[in-house]
Amino acid sequence: MQLTERINRIQISPTAAVIAEAEKLKAKGVDIADFGPGEPDFPTPEHIKKAAIRAIEQNFTKYTATGGILPLREAICAWHKRELKSGYEPKECVVNVGGKHSIFNVVSVLVQQGDEVIVPAPYWVSYPDIVKYAGGTPVHVETRAEDGFSVKASVIEKAITAKTRMVILSSPNNPTGGVIPPDEYGRILSVCRKHNVWLMSDECYSHFTYEPHKPFSIASAADSKENVIIIGSVSKTFAMTGWRIGYTLAPAPLVQALIKLQSQSTSNPTSIAQYAALAAMTGTMDTVPVMLAEYAKRRKRIVEGLNAIPGVKCAQPGGAFYAFPDVSAHLSGPHALAKDTTELATLLLDKARVALVGGDAFGAPGYLRLSYATSLERIEEGLRRLDRFFSRAEAAA
Ligand SMILES: Cc1ncc(COP(=O)(O)O)c(C=O)c1O
Repeated sequence: MQLTERINRIQISPTAAVIAEAEKLKAKGVDIADFGPGEPDFPTPEHIKKAAIRAIEQNFTKYTATGGILPLREAICAWHKRELKSGYEPKECVVNVGGKHSIFNVVSVLVQQGDEVIVPAPYWVSYPDIVKYAGGTPVHVETRAEDGFSVKASVIEKAITAKTRMVILSSPNNPTGGVIPPDEYGRILSVCRKHNVWLMSDECYSHFTYEPHKPFSIASAADSKENVIIIGSVSKTFAMTGWRIGYTLAPAPLVQALIKLQSQSTSNPTSIAQYAALAAMTGTMDTVPVMLAEYAKRRKRIVEGLNAIPGVKCAQPGGAFYAFPDVSAHLSGPHALAKDTTELATLLLDKARVALVGGDAFGAPGYLRLSYATSLERIEEGLRRLDRFFSRAEAAA
């Protein structure tokens, strides 16, 4: 079939591919220790579900304003101000069909052929492909485990050229859990301002930070508005991945362009989901610390367990719900288990019945990503399987 050159520039999301493979095996009755999914294993809170049911009963089931209902845009601005100390107004806010859609739209509107976009590696799998689809070129700069996978302003500045249009950051980061400290984030903003480059800040994991880190938005910095684009989502914070509600906070003319694009593609995000998100943004947030406390316990256990496995080194992630161990010791020398982490992930699924994602997908050869959005019991089982697999390999070496 002849497809466009554009669609051939990108690949299916590797995380989606792993999940599909694990699901196939599970459907056949195979017991998989599943560290694949990047979504909370908690249900959407009751008051949010009830708001959606009410929306249906009250017939809020029709088209809405393309950029989202005004009460939701007001609520997002108020929530962001209260939680993250920004100062946006509804005209600077557009509701999208999930944070991924927000990023896709922003990049579509701002990036074109010949533009470069700086994306620190390891990166979330969708950033480079979204940039490529828009005709841009992703430029990767390295972040290191020794620095907590936090990118430095000086490294970004060195990568800026006359073609640089945007820098995309996520903090906490998927896949590393890295958190950019506020002062470094401020320096990155100054670099972007100096070079007149957009700073897109993906805050999808903003509320999943572990002590000493705190939720932070660069939108709280004075004079940030001109260059900063905030991407937010209810997916992770409120365990609402399936509802598909995200948002963009940005200068009003950019928001207008995003609404124009949305008016010719998805139209408004689902009306019912918008009312659910309104309840999330205006209601109690008491489920958030409960989830975070559970993730903190799991983080401790999984990092400890991974570090006890031969040839595996895992730094403590500062946020999100992913462990990102270095397994490069098993990928080189005469007893290498696989040629790369993609092959290793396949081997782990086939032989150890553990589902996870190879670091290659995130621009991080030598690493694996394990989501610990799964019960402690399943984490223990997965760790036992990984230990058996790698210990046997070590013994055979
Ligand atoms: C870093 C990051 N940004 C954005 C998203 C998008 O989330 P959603 O489209 O569900 O809002 C994800 C989802 O995994 C993510 O990991």
